Amino acid sequence: MRVEWSDDLLLGIPEMDEQHKQLIAILNQFYDAVERGEREEGILSLFEGADRYADHHLSSEEKFLESIQYPELDAHRALHEMYRQEYRTMMERYKQGDRKAARELTAFLLSWLYTHIQKADKKYAVFFHQAS
Ligand SMILES: [Fe+2]
Repeated sequence: MRVEWSDDLLLGIPEMDEQHKQLIAILNQFYDAVERGEREEGILSLFEGADRYADHHLSSEEKFLESIQYPELDAHRALHEMYRQEYRTMMERYKQGDRKAARELTAFLLSWLYTHIQKADKKYAVFFHQAS
């Protein structure tokens, strides 16, 4: 299922909000390509593009959390790490010929991201707004 951006995902931290919007847009493109049965090269390049952007985002979020001395940084980082591992496992499965992996991955990514922003990211936003 596609996930549309909605303002209840806003954290009130412009840099993170922009990246979340961008990430949702990229994942929706990926999802659409999988649903319309895009060819393997196309899917692989979307896999890689989405992975690069997500990695960029997760790292910059972690740097932001360091900069505000977020007390739950380690736990938050662990959530990101689980995501990265899941992503790599699915990409490997796809490369090895498991075509179902792409559909599973897009569904996983979109729902993971949505829940992650709603729960874990909102928590650091509350901390940030209280501290500043
Ligand atoms: Fe996060």
